[in-house]
Amino acid sequence: MKNKLDALRTEFLQQLTQAKDEEDLRQLEIKFLSRKGKLSEIMHGLKNLDLKLRQEIGKSANQLKIELQNKFQEASKLMKKSIVNNEYVDVTLPGINRPQGHLNPITLVQNELEDLFSSLGFMILDGPELESDYFNFTALNLGPDHPARDMQDTFYIDYPNRQGEYDLLMRTQTSPMQIRAMNKYGAPLRALIPGRCFRNEATDARHEHTFYQVEGMLIDKNINFAHLKSFLEIVGKRLFGSNTKLRMRPKFFPFVEPGNNGEYTCFLCGGKGCRVCKYTGWLETVGAGLIHPDVLRAGGIDPEIYSGLAFGFGLNRLAMLKYNINDVRLFNSGDPKFLEQF
Ligand code: FA5
Repeated sequence: MKNKLDALRTEFLQQLTQAKDEEDLRQLEIKFLSRKGKLSEIMHGLKNLDLKLRQEIGKSANQLKIELQNKFQEASKLMKKSIVNNEYVDVTLPGINRPQGHLNPITLVQNELEDLFSSLGFMILDGPELESDYFNFTALNLGPDHPARDMQDTFYIDYPNRQGEYDLLMRTQTSPMQIRAMNKYGAPLRALIPGRCFRNEATDARHEHTFYQVEGMLIDKNINFAHLKSFLEIVGKRLFGSNTKLRMRPKFFPFVEPGNNGEYTCFLCGGKGCRVCKYTGWLETVGAGLIHPDVLRAGGIDPEIYSGLAFGFGLNRLAMLKYNINDVRLFNSGDPKFLEQF
């Protein structure tokens, strides 16, 4: 028995000096010192010895147990210390430089418009990109056979709505939110609605299939064209500088009467005429007008009591003008070389 204890001691100490890491130590502890380890095994065997021998060997076994436990603690402390020493942190090293993100130029212009219009008492609304034919066209005076629908061909969804009708499409404009806002909030009403729109376009430098608009609407008593003109002037001066002028030319939109196109003096030549403005001095930027009485009615508002104005900016177009971007397709390109400039 005594020999067994001596052999165990030698084996334990030898393996302890060979332990390379904490895992080796853990295995050693299980093998020798745990409840089912080699030392416990020997101690269990003592019960077969006669009393005197059992007391004598038992004492030696207990002493060996204490000795091995102490050696084990020492080795494990040393191991921890060397790990900490090898993995020290050099606080003098320079930090890791994480590149900062950039806001998309469309977001920058959108933020600026939201700031401006909230300061004028407008609420900012969001609307569905997947829209119904009714809100996108019919409620805006663009009935099923209206020829002006052709100007805004879109992506029709081959999936029924909750009523089982096939009338879902990707909205072509933010104007359907005029009706939704009127239905929800009634009059008087001031709202700005930025959002993504979609059209089935043959894309070019000025036309994308996916782009952003921002719709503005104000409904109250006695709203007239002068109010509309002053709003558009404020936006032009805010975005492009205080010398910016506005001109309004008639344009047909079935949901406003009278309707017009708003044009600002060209940011590049200041109105003298250049390549960007096709030598006219003006840049077409916004569709606008006074809300048609039928549209007010579709929104549940009495046109005998209230009148309203509405305008729809192309956000991509505004960002192109503000930051001198020459191709609308860059916005969807995901090209970091483009985005990092803002
Ligand atoms: C409209 O979409 C009307 N809803 C605007 C409106 C609102 C008129 C309220 C009256 C009252 P239009 O189709 O012209 O109008 O588009 C408005 C702006 O969206 C354009 O001036 C242009 O800046 C932008 N836009 C239109 N189509 C595209 C396109 N394919 N790619 C990029 N921008 C576009």
